[in-house]
Amino acid sequence: MTPPTGGDGPLAGRLSRAGLRSAGVSATMLGTLSEGGPRVDWNDMIRAELEGLVPYAPGLREDQVRERSGRDDICKLSSNESPYGPFPAAIDAMRRELSELNRYPEGASEALRERLSAMHGVPAEETLVGAGSNEILRLIGQVVLRPGDEVVYPWPSFVVYPTVTQMFGATKVPVPLVNGTRYDLDAMLAAVTERTRILFLCNPNNPTGTIYTREAFDRFLEKLPAHVLLVLDEAYFEFVTSEEYPDGLAYFDGQRPIVVLRTFSKIYGLAGARVGYGFMPAPLRHAIDCVREPFNVNSVAQAAALASLDDQAEVTRRRAENQEQKTYLYSGFDRLGISWVPSETNFVWIKTEKPVEVFEGLLEEGVIVRAFGPTPALRVGVGTAEDSRRTIEAFEAVIARLGSV
Ligand SMILES: Cc1ncc(COP(=O)(O)O)c(C=O)c1O
Repeated sequence: MTPPTGGDGPLAGRLSRAGLRSAGVSATMLGTLSEGGPRVDWNDMIRAELEGLVPYAPGLREDQVRERSGRDDICKLSSNESPYGPFPAAIDAMRRELSELNRYPEGASEALRERLSAMHGVPAEETLVGAGSNEILRLIGQVVLRPGDEVVYPWPSFVVYPTVTQMFGATKVPVPLVNGTRYDLDAMLAAVTERTRILFLCNPNNPTGTIYTREAFDRFLEKLPAHVLLVLDEAYFEFVTSEEYPDGLAYFDGQRPIVVLRTFSKIYGLAGARVGYGFMPAPLRHAIDCVREPFNVNSVAQAAALASLDDQAEVTRRRAENQEQKTYLYSGFDRLGISWVPSETNFVWIKTEKPVEVFEGLLEEGVIVRAFGPTPALRVGVGTAEDSRRTIEAFEAVIARLGSV
């Protein structure tokens, strides 16, 4: 990892020797502190396993693109968020919580945990609430991964899987999707060795929006060795309409090494509140409970999530609206000769030979999508009806400029 450089050492200018002495720090200890500049070797200080990691790069924000495109009406379709905001009941619940923010939240999100447990028929001791499912992904890595372990995951998929793998010194084993879009569960099985500790499956997959079927998953599970912890990341579960989709919870019994992760960030429109949840065997949940932050999910987020669960009609409405907008986008893409991949999520993976040019061109039109470096594809989020109309118009304008996409 290349540390940021700077002339002032981390201790210089902030801690004086006199100040430290008066705080009871001994002269022997002080002898090791740098006085005139940076003497610490940060490459030695920071774990070597982190070499090569880069900070997560979120999609562009509206304000950044407003400046660049000179337009006010920006369509932010880059982070698979809900375009509709939190549910009305969640907004009320969050407001009510504000005047109580002098108090710590429930330490283990007890009320929300009980509610999720009852709703899904899973014991509370097998249910965990986290600051987004992202936090739970990291915590799983933290309690199970050791250097030398291997972690198998599809690729392209959610960028956090390789990060979690590397951060705990394990070895990354990415398995390419067929044609960059379709799951090959046999290939994933073939990648498993006796050193495999975790196998991540993202269903539906981010960024392709594709799923593996129940039939394929049944065959896969029969052959998956019992020493592998199977993490089923179902962040986009609520958007799925396919009859062939295997609901991970149907396979969860609290005994088999299976984890199912879901989130309030997507269909529930609470990405900014950071709240997700998971179901996992009790010993794993207990281990995570011992190392997670004591108050990992803030009280506003807990209240919003609880209130959202009461409005399942809104979930159904949003799923239907998402479906309608996706259909509009598909036909617009067809009309423009853009190749797209059928999606079970709130985003669509489109093929393009000019990902960078098309991404930039869309920005000029005030539409933010997500590019993945030189990967010949872009991820286009599904937004409101107005977003969909603008998206197709923007592609039209870009094609007029570039000749094709
Ligand atoms: C597949 C997948 N898993 C997990 C997450 C994390 O979601 P959160 O931490 O907001 O719950 C995301 C977010 O984009 C995702 O795409």
